[in-house]
Amino acid sequence: MIELIDLWEFAPGIKEKLSVLIQERADELNGPHLFRYYNPRPSKVAGAEQAFAGFLGVKYALAVNSGTSALIAALRALGVGAGEEVIVPAYTFFASVAAIGVCNAIPVIADVDETLTLDPKDVERKITPRTRALIVVHMRGKPAQMDELMAVAARHRLVVIEDVAQAAGGSYKGRMLGTIGAMGCFSFDYFKILNSGEGGFVVTNDEWLHTRAQSWHDCAACWRPNRYATERREGELFCGENYRMSELQGAVALAQIRKAPKYLAGYRDALRRIADRLMLPSSVKIQRVIDPAGDACSNLIFFMTDAETTKRTLAALQACGVPAGGIHDHKVKDWHIYSYWEQILDKKSVARDGLLWSAVPAAELPRYSPAMCPQCTNYLSRAIMIDIHWQCTPRECAQIADAVNLMLAGG
Ligand SMILES: Cc1ncc(COP(=O)(O)O)c(C=O)c1O
Repeated sequence: MIELIDLWEFAPGIKEKLSVLIQERADELNGPHLFRYYNPRPSKVAGAEQAFAGFLGVKYALAVNSGTSALIAALRALGVGAGEEVIVPAYTFFASVAAIGVCNAIPVIADVDETLTLDPKDVERKITPRTRALIVVHMRGKPAQMDELMAVAARHRLVVIEDVAQAAGGSYKGRMLGTIGAMGCFSFDYFKILNSGEGGFVVTNDEWLHTRAQSWHDCAACWRPNRYATERREGELFCGENYRMSELQGAVALAQIRKAPKYLAGYRDALRRIADRLMLPSSVKIQRVIDPAGDACSNLIFFMTDAETTKRTLAALQACGVPAGGIHDHKVKDWHIYSYWEQILDKKSVARDGLLWSAVPAAELPRYSPAMCPQCTNYLSRAIMIDIHWQCTPRECAQIADAVNLMLAGG
């Protein structure tokens, strides 16, 4: 308990007072039950699942220990396996790709367009008879082109998994992100809109997919009404992993989900204040956001004319304290950009069986190269991203916008 208190930054003296109180009352405290199952108290993890399902308006939410685990559990629930191809955008955190490889399926990298999300035209070009699924990533909080992508998927009988790690609380045409495809995957790691240090959720409206995701996330089957009963339906039981969320994470996740409306309103107000005050020269283009009302608003991105101007402008913005970053610098490795995914480009395997690559004749594997997605490289090397903080005051927003206006007018 005292170690937990130590995690928070209390005003001077408060931590000491709490520690004394806890030590004085130590005899009266029963240890917490930190395992979600067989819990004599109402489980915090189950509470977080219920709250998150309610927040999204979806039937089932399964808490897991990370966003990566959420993606793997979703792929496994859908039965994706060796030799099948899964399309993934060229711009996403490597976890979206690694999850495919962990299932021994083959990642096929499709380009992004000026929205910095999957380009539906390139997705269609990348489909082969082996394609099973699309992982659509709502990158940087912005909704992807769901109507077009769902239509491509329907035409080719593919399943859609939404990677909502960076866009919790975002929406598309009024529907919450993560509830449009067959399954939605969320990360609650420290850097996300909602966070419990580490953690994640898999959501779906399909009871069977939820059942199979549970099987994958807990090979001990603690989630089953009768843990040792035989399979209720073929496909319910198989060798899974342990992706269970602990009660410590569950308690934090639950509190975060309750605060989600406050965080999201903060992000939206701050972004609106900055955007309304910006006066960008016509050569600078704001990122096209497919559904601005559904933007989770954790950042604002604009494109300069060329990479050199981008670097110069970025340095000037940073020098005057604007929370800005460049998305792509040829000299700096970045796990969010396909050209640095050496594990994929060089077809690496973890074991001597050569999987994931050995499931398919070598000549039929995708050809990867650092130049294969030119739109991605082009847009990212000209992109400047301003980080938005949900607690940004009106004055700070005005300062950011004024500094951007000043620097861009000069440059
Ligand atoms: C788009 C995307 N997908 C998946 C993940 C993986 O989430 P986690 O770090 O919780 O495993 C991240 C995390 O950064 C992400 O940004």
